[in-house]
Amino acid sequence: KILILDFGSQVTQLIARRVREAGVYCEVHPFNSDPAKLKAFNAKGIILSGGPASVTGIDTPRAPTFVYDAGVPVFGICYGEQTMCEQLGGKVESGHHREFGRAQIEIKKGSALFDGVWEAGKSYEVWMSHGDRVTALPDGFEVVGVSGNAPYAAIADEKRRFYAVQFHPEVVHTPDGAKLLENFVRKIAGCHGQWTMAAFRERMIADIRAQVGDGKVICGLSGGVDSSVAAVLIHEAIGDQLTCVFVDHGLLRMGEAEQVVSLFRDSYNIPLIHRDASDMFLSALAGEIDPEVKRKTIGKLFIDVFEEEAKKVGGAQFLAQGTLYPDVIESVSFTGGPSVTIKSHHNVGGLPARMNMKLVEPLRELFKDEVRALGRELGLPESLVGRHPFPGPGLAIRIPGQEITREKLDILRAADAVYLDEIRKSGLYDKIWQAFAVLLPVRTVGVMGDGRTYDFACALRAVTSTDGMTADYFPFPHDFLGRVATRIINEVRGINRVTYDITSKPPGTIEWE
Ligand code: XMP
Repeated sequence: KILILDFGSQVTQLIARRVREAGVYCEVHPFNSDPAKLKAFNAKGIILSGGPASVTGIDTPRAPTFVYDAGVPVFGICYGEQTMCEQLGGKVESGHHREFGRAQIEIKKGSALFDGVWEAGKSYEVWMSHGDRVTALPDGFEVVGVSGNAPYAAIADEKRRFYAVQFHPEVVHTPDGAKLLENFVRKIAGCHGQWTMAAFRERMIADIRAQVGDGKVICGLSGGVDSSVAAVLIHEAIGDQLTCVFVDHGLLRMGEAEQVVSLFRDSYNIPLIHRDASDMFLSALAGEIDPEVKRKTIGKLFIDVFEEEAKKVGGAQFLAQGTLYPDVIESVSFTGGPSVTIKSHHNVGGLPARMNMKLVEPLRELFKDEVRALGRELGLPESLVGRHPFPGPGLAIRIPGQEITREKLDILRAADAVYLDEIRKSGLYDKIWQAFAVLLPVRTVGVMGDGRTYDFACALRAVTSTDGMTADYFPFPHDFLGRVATRIINEVRGINRVTYDITSKPPGTIEWE
């Protein structure tokens, strides 16, 4: 396994993903974690991430010294290169030679890092983002690659197996970067590619059995990928000691609740409580139009209803959650201070403390794409495994600025279903991060046949994204949009106008509220 020390780069998680993609287990820890613990992790190789600080500043981050004495290979990336050089006796200067974006690296010498990927004498594209640069190398190092503004773009001490690069191999803009990282973790650090979802499944089943014993576990299902995969995995481990609770708030999409029930009850035979609480949620939301109040109302009621159902099961000591690795990684923050709440996300995070239950979180080590791979490994249908994300408050936040009623929910559901149907038929579903319809709080005049209509307008939204943090609108061909609009207006009673939302995030958000 590989240890990644985080110096606060925006893209440290990508290093971890590339290492996992190479079939090697790794963990990300802040550079200033307890060195004894980091050492006890017993990594076969260590990667030092990039970061926003400058090693020339006072009190800036350094790697704990065991990193260089442990006798294992070390790979420094960007800030990681600079701190490595500084700590081993080289020199770093604050740059008047900033380099951001695409650059060419010229390979000066062969290196174990480049083995089978880059040849001496040739140039390759890399992604740079640095202000400082190394100006003198520590003993034992030599230059193996140079770029226009970084005479030490890639350096190596083959004997000690220390490598460092000024560019970012973890981002897709460095086309061969993943292969360099694979060389480091497999050929140089000697890790075998045994991190597969089949192996993970076996190990996790044993872990769940060991943790739970003959106790009872409750798992909340949402219809999404994470909770479904967690539930099926846990059921495989402990069978009917697991009960799933599906709180149906009546704000789901067309056919979604039925799918959850039939998949778990009929296909998997997992004990499932399906609580239809739509009346409760609709009365709680009656007359409310403020987005934050709606979100909080739904979140609170959800927990109340879930707790009520969980109590009925009786005697459960464990609560299962689909927590993922990105929620667990402790991030290095240099900005300090709390960040602004843009939207209060609704999930069941507050539940376990309140219910005094122990957590079972079998997906804590996984990234989203690994959860999907595990879902496929467990035989879950592709329609579920590849599903777009869907927010906890559901359709309530897609009826913005107006009171939520059953009638409006039905109109929105019908329009959304037509839109998704056309996206699937065009083979675009998997190219899109998220796509949905929004029912606008405005009625517009139309003419259908010989008659006047006065109905709702709806907006269509589709974005590409890798993590939901930033997003761009999806560039549908105009004839596709025209086809969807015609179908919605013809098939959905209550809508007579369709618009397409072309806002990116930032400055917009993905959902409308
Ligand atoms: P925004 O609208 O903030 O959404 O750009 C980013 C991603 O988060 C989803 N989202 C939520 N997910 N509970 C969730 O579980 C919520 O309350 C919630 N609000 C937004 C949104 O669908 C998008 O994928």
